[in-house]
Amino acid sequence: MSQVSDVNVTGTPKKVHVETWGCQMNAADSERMLALLAQQNYQLTPIVEEADLVLLNTCHIREKARHKVLSRLGVLRDLKEQRPGMTIAVAGCVAQAEGRRLLKAAPQIDVLLGPGKIEDLPRLLSEHADTGKSALATGFARHHDDHAAEPTDVDAEAVAPPTLSGKHEVSRYVNIQQGCNNYCTFCVVPFTRGREVSRTIAEVVAESKALLATGARELTLLGQNVNSYGSDNGEPPRFAELLRAVAALPELDRLRFTTSNPHDLTREVADLFATEPKLGRYLHLPVQSGSDPILHRMQRKVTVAEYLERVTWLRSAVPDIAISTDLIVGFPGETEEDFAATMALVEKVGFSFTFSFKYSPRNNTPAARYLDQIPESVKDERLTRLHTLQDSITTKQNLAEINEVRPVLFLYHSQKMPGYYYGRTEHYRLVRVAAERNLVGEILPVKITSANKTALLGDLV
Ligand code: 5AD
Ligand code: SF4
Repeated sequence: MSQVSDVNVTGTPKKVHVETWGCQMNAADSERMLALLAQQNYQLTPIVEEADLVLLNTCHIREKARHKVLSRLGVLRDLKEQRPGMTIAVAGCVAQAEGRRLLKAAPQIDVLLGPGKIEDLPRLLSEHADTGKSALATGFARHHDDHAAEPTDVDAEAVAPPTLSGKHEVSRYVNIQQGCNNYCTFCVVPFTRGREVSRTIAEVVAESKALLATGARELTLLGQNVNSYGSDNGEPPRFAELLRAVAALPELDRLRFTTSNPHDLTREVADLFATEPKLGRYLHLPVQSGSDPILHRMQRKVTVAEYLERVTWLRSAVPDIAISTDLIVGFPGETEEDFAATMALVEKVGFSFTFSFKYSPRNNTPAARYLDQIPESVKDERLTRLHTLQDSITTKQNLAEINEVRPVLFLYHSQKMPGYYYGRTEHYRLVRVAAERNLVGEILPVKITSANKTALLGDLV
């Protein structure tokens, strides 16, 4: 291995400050980069002013997310003027999408790397330290071709990276796939994370085992389109097989996965919810719109009726399954009638919660070139109506939990209120409980006593 001259592996630790935007994929990537930096004798600091290395892990999904990165880079430029030894690294989807253009616009960046180049971080830091110039790596991961390996071949040799806080936590992410082959017309992901590349079942099981060995009780399998897992070379998807292999690990209590495109969700995976209790009673299934003409222009490849059919599969497996979704309002050409159809779908399905966004045109995506863009004021007004409707549904569902006894996996303690612990039910509802001892990592029955829009309150029984 080449010498990494930027870091002094045996000397005084250097300090890294990490800021992460965007989805769980980015959160998982930040953990991975931190694990690589820990091997180079870096320690995490929450204080940006004392950092030797500031790492921004960026998101490009909407213009607002990109703007935040640019304004943060402005602040860091001023800070770097006072601390010339500071290194600024920009990772993630803005780095991939904008590459050299971003370096030109923000020359204070010393290292720039896309999500497919995470493993190059130590090399890029070293290159920058040697040359004094900006070092860059973008582009996408290549296909693995050893899909034949079976989970039984695996020893738990993979090393679990520490979490960002340096502690091992109860709920951890496992990346199963990079990229996406779906090309929805609004979405920048194919340009920031490339085409689908799946890890092998053996790799995913090995990493899962390693995380469980550190005390994790819940795992979330991550990918942009998890249901097509394993089909990158035109083979049939193997996601159900992967779920069975991970669920079979005895130390695992709960298994979640995200993100599911309804187009690729199979009956086999929906049916697994009936037979595999570790999957719980919750799924995030983004629909984006309740109008067929809009879904067609988004190139979602499912109709509203097909989406509802998948909801029926899930509800026949688990009758009270909680389903959440993503919605975009003000997609080009969205009429009042289209929007009314979205509102009607929200009521019909009764989502447990929704993430709703105003459409934001992204460079290179087909929808950004559509001529019938919707005025911002109309998007604002529709978003408000949608929020009001969803809030009333979520509140109603949460109030209906009062007096139920639910098994809760406790995940963390309250920062603001000592003695309070937060966990989640199988339906993924957030629960707060007061206790005299540390509950983190335990699954305990809780009687729900009150509820509001955001959380349930309860007592241990
Ligand atoms: N504008 C607004 N929302 C978007 N999303 C993705 N691309 C855009 C865009 N251009 C939303 C979708 C997706 C979620 C992660 O972000 O709802 O499911
Ligand atoms: Fe943002 Fe998409 Fe990149 Fe995640 S994959 S960080 S949501 S642009």
